[in-house]
Amino acid sequence: MNLLKNKIEDEGVVLSGTVLKVDSFLNHQVDPELMMEIGKEFARRFKDLGITKVLTIESSGIAPGVMAALQLNVPLVFARKRKSLTLSEGVITSKVYSYTKQEENTISVSSKYIGENDRVLLVDDFLANGQAALGLIDLVKQAGANVAGIGIVIEKSFQDGGKLVRETGYRVESLAEIQSLENGKVTFKQEGARV
Ligand code: G4P
Repeated sequence: MNLLKNKIEDEGVVLSGTVLKVDSFLNHQVDPELMMEIGKEFARRFKDLGITKVLTIESSGIAPGVMAALQLNVPLVFARKRKSLTLSEGVITSKVYSYTKQEENTISVSSKYIGENDRVLLVDDFLANGQAALGLIDLVKQAGANVAGIGIVIEKSFQDGGKLVRETGYRVESLAEIQSLENGKVTFKQEGARV
């Protein structure tokens, strides 16, 4: 998705050989027009799959997730990372380990909002080590629902997540695939190329 890649080139800050800062349009300030285009692109790639819900994780997945949900004309559900005061009965949980932060989070969703008749599109901002996506897949399975596909805004192809998540057999679509962040420079993977 060229609009997104241009934005990453213009505004992304390479913090290290593994971390890209995109605070100006995705992780802190949010560019609504770009999010709308991202939502349209996810909807284009996953249309005709009978999707009934979009599921993401708070907080940075919510902006692209809600735009995808709007375009697919279905609700967005976001898994919570922190315990909610009002979320008590019928809670489905999964443990997600963050290699970046070296901490384990318990993510949760109410069984009221994901059920066995749902076909769920998973959306997240980054695919790095894949643990978040695997946690979301686990929540959907526990709910007895089906994963229709996985939509990622930025995939860091040099980390293990893409391989791990594709091994589940689900379709993964990433709108920008980063091959390297070496030497302070963003290098995108050639479209269609698989490593
Ligand atoms: P994983 O989700 O693929 O397993 O990766 P990991 O545990 O390493 O990621 C932990 C958090 O860091 C996630 O956000 C993830 O989106 C984010 N992240 C990973 N790599 C990058 C990167 O290169 N740049 C940026 N900006 N973020 C990255 P989170 O903690 O859930 O944050 P938020 O959604 O609350 O903003």
